[in-house]
Amino acid sequence: MLSETTTARAKVLADLPPVKSDSLLALIAMANADPRPDKIDVGVGVFRDGAGQTPILKVMKQAERKLLETQVSKSYLGSAGDKRFAELLRPILLGEHADDERIAGTQTPGGCGALRLGFELIRTMNPDARVFVGTPTWPNHAPIIRGVGLEMVEYPYYDRDSCAIRFGAMLEGLNGAHEGDVVLLHGVCHNPTGADLDEQQWAEVTRIVSQRGLLPFVDIAYQGFGRGLDEDAAGLRGLLSACDEVIVAQSCDKNFSVYRDRVGSLFLKTGSAEATAKAMAHVYQRAREMWSMPPDHGAAAVRIILDDAQLTADWKVELDAMRDRINAVRARIAAADPRLAYIGQQFGMFSMLPLSMEQVLALRERHAIYMADSGRFNVVGMADDSIDRFTAAVAEAFDG
Ligand SMILES: Cc1ncc(COP(=O)(O)O)c(C=O)c1O
Repeated sequence: MLSETTTARAKVLADLPPVKSDSLLALIAMANADPRPDKIDVGVGVFRDGAGQTPILKVMKQAERKLLETQVSKSYLGSAGDKRFAELLRPILLGEHADDERIAGTQTPGGCGALRLGFELIRTMNPDARVFVGTPTWPNHAPIIRGVGLEMVEYPYYDRDSCAIRFGAMLEGLNGAHEGDVVLLHGVCHNPTGADLDEQQWAEVTRIVSQRGLLPFVDIAYQGFGRGLDEDAAGLRGLLSACDEVIVAQSCDKNFSVYRDRVGSLFLKTGSAEATAKAMAHVYQRAREMWSMPPDHGAAAVRIILDDAQLTADWKVELDAMRDRINAVRARIAAADPRLAYIGQQFGMFSMLPLSMEQVLALRERHAIYMADSGRFNVVGMADDSIDRFTAAVAEAFDG
């Protein structure tokens, strides 16, 4: 029988302080509980098609069938997971750097696992390293960095009211970093703002990072959702050309649409193949302490796709279709009102509306439109037939 009081002496768990609830999860719960049939949930962080669904890619279904038929063992693979998976990612992610022996990579449980592992490695090397993070950023960055025990320093990245990158302030912030400090950069499709650095801005940031001896850490979770696989990795590849040391946290969860299967990788570059091998030994040690080895299924299916020219071509067609939808919805939103025009210039699933908290709440109450308190919304969170209602409601909110 359960009792309110306990006579047990151990009450360490009972004494835990309450956890501040995750506002995005609370938002999803609120949207789910709203009975209005025409509700629009643009708080969610997954790709949706024109009908408002997040389907499994056809090519993924094919790869999973092949995996089911051909897999003969589920015995342990080790902390590196599926090595062929990481090898096959190299040309896609690294392009002209794919054959550089100073770069090594390993499978991780999603992009989050890669971020955690990368920051663990940094703490192992230099617990006093500071991590420079542009604001606003994806809400999971700070807890991961602080969870590892590293100090985080914020630099301004984006101005919500003028809907523009604060590039001068960003450079000023980076100029305050010392040799050995880490700079976290979004590879492409900046989450939460959709505002990516242009080619010249990447070149300038790369110059500062390499001249000041900073360690760039690139989080690339949306490759292929912006302009194309190669275009979206151009900033990362420029850093690899200019810097001896680079860390990359990569995710396949969006571009293969396998979110819950947790598919990602961590890549490292150092000044020599020997130093990279030594660093990777630390990476595997940290992985062993945290999750022993990454989950196999999703990475094995991605490996089957990338190991087959036809399946890879099929994947690229489906990836192009996801990107085309993102950019088509952006164009439609941008054309609806001059105050939304900037959304057509941005990339990826997310953009931010310069709305007050009251305006965000009014959209929820009056129109059943659910977006994050910050005004961040998923441009492909809504079905095609909801776009006009969405833009009209946002215009009304702007008008006050
Ligand atoms: C900027 C950014 N980095 C990393 C991730 C991690 O993705 P996952 O752990 O689902 O692979 C996400 C997911 O939303 C993201 O937006």
